Amino acid sequence: MPNIQIKSYQEYEEAYKRSVEDPEGFWSDIASTFTWRKKWNTTLEWNFEEPNVKWFKGGRLNITENCLDRHLKTRGNKLALIWEPNDPKERFVRYTYRELHEKVCQFANVLKKNGAKKGDRICIYMPMIPELAFAVLACARIGAIHSVVFAGFSAVAMADRINDAQCSMVLTSDGLNRGAKQIPVKRVVDEALERCDSVKKVIVVERLGWAVNMVDGRDVWYHDEVQGVSKDCPAEEMDAEDMLFILYTSGSTGKPKGVVHTCGGYMVYAQYSFSNVFQVQENDIYWCTADIGWITGHTYLLYGPLLSGSTSLMFEGVPTFPDMGRFWQVVDKFGVNIFYTAPTAIRSLMGGDIDDVLSYSLDSLKVLGSVGEPINEEAWHWYHTHVGKERCPLVDTWWQTETGGIMISTIASITPMKPSHAALPLPGIQPILVDAEGKEITDNEVEGYLCMKFPWPSIIRTTYGDHERARLSYFSTYKGLYFTGDGAKRDKDGLYRIIGRVDDVINVSGHRFGTAEIEEAINHNSHVVESAVVGYPHDVKGQGIYAFVICKDVPEREDYLRAEIIETVVEKIGKIAKPDKIQIVNGLPKTRSGKIMRRILRKVAEGDTSNLGDTSTLLDPDVVDEIKAGAL
Ligand code: WT7
Repeated sequence: MPNIQIKSYQEYEEAYKRSVEDPEGFWSDIASTFTWRKKWNTTLEWNFEEPNVKWFKGGRLNITENCLDRHLKTRGNKLALIWEPNDPKERFVRYTYRELHEKVCQFANVLKKNGAKKGDRICIYMPMIPELAFAVLACARIGAIHSVVFAGFSAVAMADRINDAQCSMVLTSDGLNRGAKQIPVKRVVDEALERCDSVKKVIVVERLGWAVNMVDGRDVWYHDEVQGVSKDCPAEEMDAEDMLFILYTSGSTGKPKGVVHTCGGYMVYAQYSFSNVFQVQENDIYWCTADIGWITGHTYLLYGPLLSGSTSLMFEGVPTFPDMGRFWQVVDKFGVNIFYTAPTAIRSLMGGDIDDVLSYSLDSLKVLGSVGEPINEEAWHWYHTHVGKERCPLVDTWWQTETGGIMISTIASITPMKPSHAALPLPGIQPILVDAEGKEITDNEVEGYLCMKFPWPSIIRTTYGDHERARLSYFSTYKGLYFTGDGAKRDKDGLYRIIGRVDDVINVSGHRFGTAEIEEAINHNSHVVESAVVGYPHDVKGQGIYAFVICKDVPEREDYLRAEIIETVVEKIGKIAKPDKIQIVNGLPKTRSGKIMRRILRKVAEGDTSNLGDTSTLLDPDVVDEIKAGAL
């Protein structure tokens, strides 16, 4: 681990300089610290036109050998995973590297016994239980491509993802715990599979002990299958550019796309970024509160920490159960040293009683992290003061599902830290700001569209089954550049501040939704003729979802209609995409060519209608007055 870790600002500057002047030499040296079955022939091959990016071409490896096997000699008895259940009264569980290795191998053998093989796509729809971690790594062990679907998505959303990737298997559980609630999970899978033909097997892990419907010949219990199965499973040898996983994320148009990451580059960047940003030391207890269903959980709960031989804490519960002090109680209980969470969690806890934080010591904390959305200054200061006691550096990490790992972030105690600023790029990352024409803005104290001009090892390779979509989404807006979809500022010292999405993507509590995707769901409601969705500032969620809806028949009780529309969204996407506000309108502000002027709707949603800008091109300017009058 130490050999890839930057130790001073000077080392950062040197590493950065080399990574730009000699990227191949730079990454080749870092990659050499990993276990490869066969060394690569070419470090990097790339163009952003097709796009085609290949790192460590010809290299052969298995990421789980790097996460597990290579640590057995020196860290076999070290804790790899600590699992804290939802209910503090239930006992936590710990796994050493040796035990985790066995669990993963056994799970891998169960997959094989049920017909899974290299290259198969396997959907994982599971709550935050240890078996979720085993399942993900077991797929990687046998070379199957995991597609984790967050267990809060609906049956329809799961089915879309299963069908897109043509998954042959689903790994799930009977149910899940979420705070005081218990939620059926297998039932959602059953409903999803009514729409899917590709799935031949479902493996069910018992969590709640609920009786569930088991389909003969298709569904099996994990605890039955694992009986007598070997704890040894040789890792499948993979090509550096073989797919490791698919993870679906929302874009500004159409259905969610399957972001593809590959074995070699993802592995190298996951460990490099993890080890550096958090300045992880050998005996640190590290806790990332993200669900493995999102990229943060993939890279910084599972792969990054395990590649580094660190101890990673996995939490089944929520920040507010049984009370608002739950996070801090867990920090004290395990002596957590590094804590990584989302601004939305901080903002929800800020609303509580300050004693819910102050009654815990939090002495063990050394580094704090933030991820997923811009962290406003108020939340930044609350987190830094009350959790970090002004002692811990707070790293604001900017990245995306598509980037695989952290791109712009303070390196704890090494590079500059400034409230609400992600600050400087990591070595190997070459951000630029461009204007609307795609021209690079080289000055400081400017604002522009955030792009990348050079590939890094964990850059998205393609969108599953549709390479053209990847090209159009990320590589066509500005020629020769990867476009992030974000707007950003750069201050006088060159530090970046991410403003947020400039496309039709809304970031709700750190989760992405396309406005088109939510509109499509709303339009499924039989009363609805047309809808337009925009984001608006929300105290806790960062952005809330505001829907303007035209209905053909407005019933007497508008609230029934609203409830029904919400139900439709929950059914098509999931509870996490529920509109916060629904305004029933008679018309939408459209230009003569039929384009909805979202700018106006955004203003109305923000509650700022003083200056709506030029509305002269509207087909029917009167709708604006009506919408303004009915604003929620
Ligand atoms: C979008 C990516 C990758 C982490 C989880 C979210 C926003 C992410 C920050 C940050 C400001 C941020 C961006 C980005 N975002 N981190 N530190 N500061 N904005 O991954 O779902 O792929 O969303 O989240 O808008 O484009 P994601």
